Amino acid sequence: MSGQEASSSSPARKRKKEGLGWIEWFRGWTCVFEEFLFQRIMASHLQNPLPLPPLNGITCIVTGSTSGIGRETARQLAEAGAHVVMAVRNTKSAQELIQQWQNEWSGRGLPLNIEATELDLLSLDSVVRFADTWNARSGPLHVLINNAGIFAMGEPQKFSKDGYEQHMQVNHLAPSLLSLLLLPSLIRGSPSRIINVNSVMHHIGFVDPDDMNLISGRRKYSSLKGYSSTKLAQVMFSSILFKRLPVESGISLVCLSPGAVLTNVARDLPRFLQAIYAVIPYFIFSPQEGCRSSIFAATDPQIPEYCETLKADDWPVCPFISQDCRPTKPSEEAHNLETAYRVWEKTLEMAGLPLDAVERLIEGEDVKCQR
Ligand SMILES: NC(=O)c1ccc[n+]([C@@H]2O[C@H](COP(=O)([O-])OP(=O)(O)OC[C@H]3O[C@@H](n4cnc5c(N)ncnc54)[C@H](OP(=O)(O)O)[C@@H]3O)[C@@H](O)[C@H]2O)c1
Repeated sequence: MSGQEASSSSPARKRKKEGLGWIEWFRGWTCVFEEFLFQRIMASHLQNPLPLPPLNGITCIVTGSTSGIGRETARQLAEAGAHVVMAVRNTKSAQELIQQWQNEWSGRGLPLNIEATELDLLSLDSVVRFADTWNARSGPLHVLINNAGIFAMGEPQKFSKDGYEQHMQVNHLAPSLLSLLLLPSLIRGSPSRIINVNSVMHHIGFVDPDDMNLISGRRKYSSLKGYSSTKLAQVMFSSILFKRLPVESGISLVCLSPGAVLTNVARDLPRFLQAIYAVIPYFIFSPQEGCRSSIFAATDPQIPEYCETLKADDWPVCPFISQDCRPTKPSEEAHNLETAYRVWEKTLEMAGLPLDAVERLIEGEDVKCQR
């Protein structure tokens, strides 16, 4: 089905404007609770930390690596020998971390090859600047880990300076733009990978491509809706990008769930909920446990073959790795290809990119954002 066909108005699309049906909603929550209650059992076969192969000569960009899962991911990749670029909004805090890691590492080998560059996902200009600077180095990029994310629990709806709902911009729009603009460097680094740190919460998400910012009033905004719908939008966009990346580009694409992880993501919770979150350590992963699916997706040698097999089978959705580092299926709603194509088109429009951006970037054309 082409994007044009998908964007044509259909009765099914008109019906589905308000959210998931009760059955899908119930199934979605079942997946969320199942992961929360059983993640430790399901992941009991995994070592902690996950052993890594030597990664010398591999360049990885990790967004949001000043705290939580991203911080642990960046440190472990660097300790395995990778050249790590911490793409962060707070470069001072990243520099302090680098200094601390270098001190802790000293005497165990060569100094860590790690640097910090500014990237604020709440500003699309910052994303463009970051990508332009990186591409201008004309070096290879082997792994892009879109890890940064927000879940402003209980907060009122907020918008970025670009005019987009903040969860939508930070969790979906800006990382999608970053992935596309970095395609030239990923091609230079091929075989390379785009890794999107997603969430089991996408199972309870619903996206209306005509109301990406949740402002129409058809669905009342809540931070839970904001977060879960952006995680679903990311899976849908990734599924179309996965299809559009030719096998010859050598770029693999994976979305993943890190599990329920004790990080700063809970910082906006009301105090009493923070207390509950902190006293259930049995169920919740530490950041070291929570970064295993990211590290696995970024480094496991079988990932490119797995992606190629799905492509050859014309699989409708992008590869998805669960918190126990096993392939799993994204939600039923993520399989709604008509909506996925609309999300693809809408995302490109919001980012100011043409509909054939991927094909042109792969051909080596200089594609500019026009907003
Ligand atoms: N923790 C969980 O249970 C869980 C479950 C499922 C999925 N996830 C996903 O895992 C990813 C990592 O989250 P986490 O749990 O590690 O949370 P975290 O500790 O809050 O880390 C989030 C990171 O994203 C960065 N960030 C936030 N807004 C940004 C912006 N505008 N520009 C650039 N960076 C920004 C933060 O930077 P600052 O340090 O400057 O704030 C921080 O480094 C997210 O995508 C999240 O949705 C987490």
